[in-house]
Amino acid sequence: NRVSIIGVPLDLGADRRGVDMGPSAIRYAKVREKLQELGYEVDDRGDILPTRPDSCYVDGTKLKYLDEIERVNTELCHMVAEEIGKGCFPLILGGDHSIAIGTMSGVLQHKKKLGVLWFDAHGDINTAETSPTGNIHGMPVAVSFGIGHERLTGVGGRGVKLDPANFVMIGIRDLDPGEKVLLKELGVTVYTMHEIDIMGMAKVMEEAIALVSDGTDGVHVSFDMDVMDPLHAPGVGTPVFGGLTYRESHLAMELISTANIVTSAEFVEVNTVLDKRNQTARVAVALIGSLLGERVL
Ligand code: ARG
Ligand code: MN
Ligand code: MN
Ligand code: MN
Repeated sequence: NRVSIIGVPLDLGADRRGVDMGPSAIRYAKVREKLQELGYEVDDRGDILPTRPDSCYVDGTKLKYLDEIERVNTELCHMVAEEIGKGCFPLILGGDHSIAIGTMSGVLQHKKKLGVLWFDAHGDINTAETSPTGNIHGMPVAVSFGIGHERLTGVGGRGVKLDPANFVMIGIRDLDPGEKVLLKELGVTVYTMHEIDIMGMAKVMEEAIALVSDGTDGVHVSFDMDVMDPLHAPGVGTPVFGGLTYRESHLAMELISTANIVTSAEFVEVNTVLDKRNQTARVAVALIGSLLGERVL
C-alpha cells in the first residue's frame, strides 16, 4: 500500500506554457494528504526537472524539442521502473502528455502485457508525418506502439511495446485525419463522446475494463484532464467542448477502482495559467482519490 509520486513539469511537448506548473498545482491541492487519508504510505519523489533549450528544432525534423523530451522521458522511464521494483504504485503528475512515453515504457519493464485506459479528448497518435503541430504531446500513443521517431520509440528499449488489442481510449472528440487512419489500421478500441452518450459511462467502463484486463499483467490509467468538459476542468492547454462531466469522470474512476486492476496512473495537462482558482488540479486530486479507493459511504 505504497504510492510513489513523481512530478514531471514538462511543457516542451505542448505549444503553450503553463502545464509546467501542473505537478506543483496538484501538490498544492493536497494530493499527498488525500492519499494518506486513504491509508497509503506516500513517498513524494519530487520532480524530474527539464531544461529549456534555446533552439526548438532538431536536425530538421518537425518534432519540437526532441532532445530534451527524449532525455526527460528516459529518466522518467527509469524512475517508474525503479518504483515498481520497490513494490510501490507509481503516480505521475504532469506536465504535458508526452510524459506518457516515459511512464508507459517504465511500466513495461515489469508488465510485459500491459493494458491501458487512455482518457483524452485527443487521440495523441500522431507521427511526424501526420502531426499538424509538431508537438510531441500529440504522439505518445503512436510511440508506445513502436511507431514514430526512433529516439522516442527507443526510450526504455526497442523490444517490448503495447498491444493495441489491450489499449482503450475514452472520451475522444478531436482527431486529426492521420490519427483516424492509424487508429482503424491498428484496431484500437475507441469510445468517443458519441458512444458515451449512447451507452452511458457505466456500460462503456464495463466493456473497457474487460478489454484491458483480458490476458494482461497490469493496467495503466493515463488521464489527460482535457478529457473533461472545460466547464469542469478549464485549466488545460487544449480544451475541447463536449467532454466528460465531473460525475462521469468520477464514475469511471470508481468503476476502475472496484475492478481492482490498476497498477499505475498519470494525470496530465493541468495548465495553471488558464485555470480558475486551481480548480483543475483540485478536480485531479478528487479523481485520484476515487481511482485509489475513496467512496462517499
Ligand atoms: N492533435 C493535436 C496535435 O497533434 C492536439 C494534441 C493534444 N494533445 C494533448 N496531449 N493535449 O497537436
Ligand atoms: Mn488531450
Ligand atoms: Mn485538432
Ligand atoms: Mn493527451
